[in-house]
Amino acid sequence: MQLADRVKLTFPKAADIPAEFDIPKPIDQKLYLINGELRYWEGAQEEAYSPIYVGGESGSSPKLIGKFPLLTEKESLEALDAAVKAYDKGRGIWPTMSVSDRIERVQDFAYRMEERRDEIVNLLMWEIGKSYKDSAKEFDRTIQYIGDTIDALKDLDRSSSRFVIEQGIIGQIRRSSLGVALCMGPSNYPLNETFTTFIPAIIMGNTVVFKPPRPGVMLYYPMLEAFRDSFPPGVINTIYGAGREVIPPLMPTGKVDILAFIGSSKVADSLKKQHPKSHRLRCALGLDAKNPGIILPSADLDLTVQECLLGTLSYNGQRCTALKMLFVHTQILDRFLEKFTKAVDGLKCGMPWEPDVKITPVPEGRAKYFLELIADAEKHGAQVINADGAQTSNTFFSPTVVYPVNSQMRLYREEQFGPVVPIVPFNDIETPIQYIADSQYGQQVSIFGQDIDLIAKLIDPLVNQVCRVNINSQCQRGPDSFPFNGRKDSAESTLSVSDALRTFSIRTIVATKEASANKAMVTKIVREHKSNFLSTDFIL
Ligand code: G3H
Repeated sequence: MQLADRVKLTFPKAADIPAEFDIPKPIDQKLYLINGELRYWEGAQEEAYSPIYVGGESGSSPKLIGKFPLLTEKESLEALDAAVKAYDKGRGIWPTMSVSDRIERVQDFAYRMEERRDEIVNLLMWEIGKSYKDSAKEFDRTIQYIGDTIDALKDLDRSSSRFVIEQGIIGQIRRSSLGVALCMGPSNYPLNETFTTFIPAIIMGNTVVFKPPRPGVMLYYPMLEAFRDSFPPGVINTIYGAGREVIPPLMPTGKVDILAFIGSSKVADSLKKQHPKSHRLRCALGLDAKNPGIILPSADLDLTVQECLLGTLSYNGQRCTALKMLFVHTQILDRFLEKFTKAVDGLKCGMPWEPDVKITPVPEGRAKYFLELIADAEKHGAQVINADGAQTSNTFFSPTVVYPVNSQMRLYREEQFGPVVPIVPFNDIETPIQYIADSQYGQQVSIFGQDIDLIAKLIDPLVNQVCRVNINSQCQRGPDSFPFNGRKDSAESTLSVSDALRTFSIRTIVATKEASANKAMVTKIVREHKSNFLSTDFIL
């Protein structure tokens, strides 16, 4: 049976969905959070569909997960004003609160979020078609990220809880907040990547307007009460709806101090340009990427195939860090292609809740785009070289290896963000090096080989082209304590557990000349705990 037919059969009938994963009734979300109130929305709602088709009497259609408020410009500006009011030009409860109290609130939120783990993981799986295993991993990684952020902040705070005396000036240097953050995560990691901006933003004392990605909205529904109850009013405000409707009004107000956005460089550029005083805007941006893998003649074949499989096709290739181009040396090409295509065809395709599933449905409309890329590559001389490649049924697209890819093809440049693996043969190492140098992207690269001298020689120029050089390992963001960033169109600023705390804050000093009256005053403030900033308290 053709793979496409097998997959057609895999799309379930309603009765086939295992009870523990089912959403028997669509969620009717009418609430949104502004200024500490869960407001009831009477207006239009948008339907959230899963990429998973479910069969019924009259054929199959995408499963309806629920409906959420389609807010307008008015509510979006109200959310921003609530965040501005809560920040109150740095005088609000939240930005002036002690670090240990803020930590306590964030910790409280994490406990409440954990109580809703099952619902959130299930919604994540349905909304974006990520396997249950990877959805659970995304949730757990996020909880871990919150815990690690708290630990990193404690460390940072401890090292700032002492005075410095230099050239007759006594100073205490700490990090303080910046203002209002607009946080928008991507739909491939709607939970984790949103939280990796949002948690450091709030824990450093900023207030937040936050728009969940679409898809990726419904999974926030179980967290709304925790957002409301764990933080003072206005610290977190949620906006839902069409990005083109609710986001454009925000930037021209000049009231957004931090733009934390994971998405395309085109959208990031247009948002930045809308700010009337761009020098006031701090940006944390995770943008486009097309990370190449370079496979040298000396590569260990089994290990390389395994890492390339993970790198190109984990979560259907829908990771910003995915290997989106493989350069394979002609000396190893035949052996690599044979093993790799076999491994690709062996990946289990199916529904996200199935054990060991690797390839799952992709968002509506993407299969058409992948077919266009493949047709364009074929027009310029490439072929689909794996037996089960380029087969599609509804939102399912089988993993596809395209070879030989060249510079005339769209696949050579475009970030395909899906299960299509372009392979470029090379003889001269200058070919991939030049590709990276000329590329508009600059996130990561993977080199596969055992030739120590050659790899060492490649490292030195590559570290000036990308921000992570992986050796015999796929490209990836984690561990989250490592810096995650990029050059050129791939990112702005660095995110990691500790770097993010710096990104969302600014070093600030309280200083005084070393005169006895000043010393007495500082001593009294500290001893009597009169200030949260000027303090030698040590958080344990
Ligand atoms: O989509 C981009 C993610 O940050 C990738 O994270 O490398 O851990 O999958 P990951």
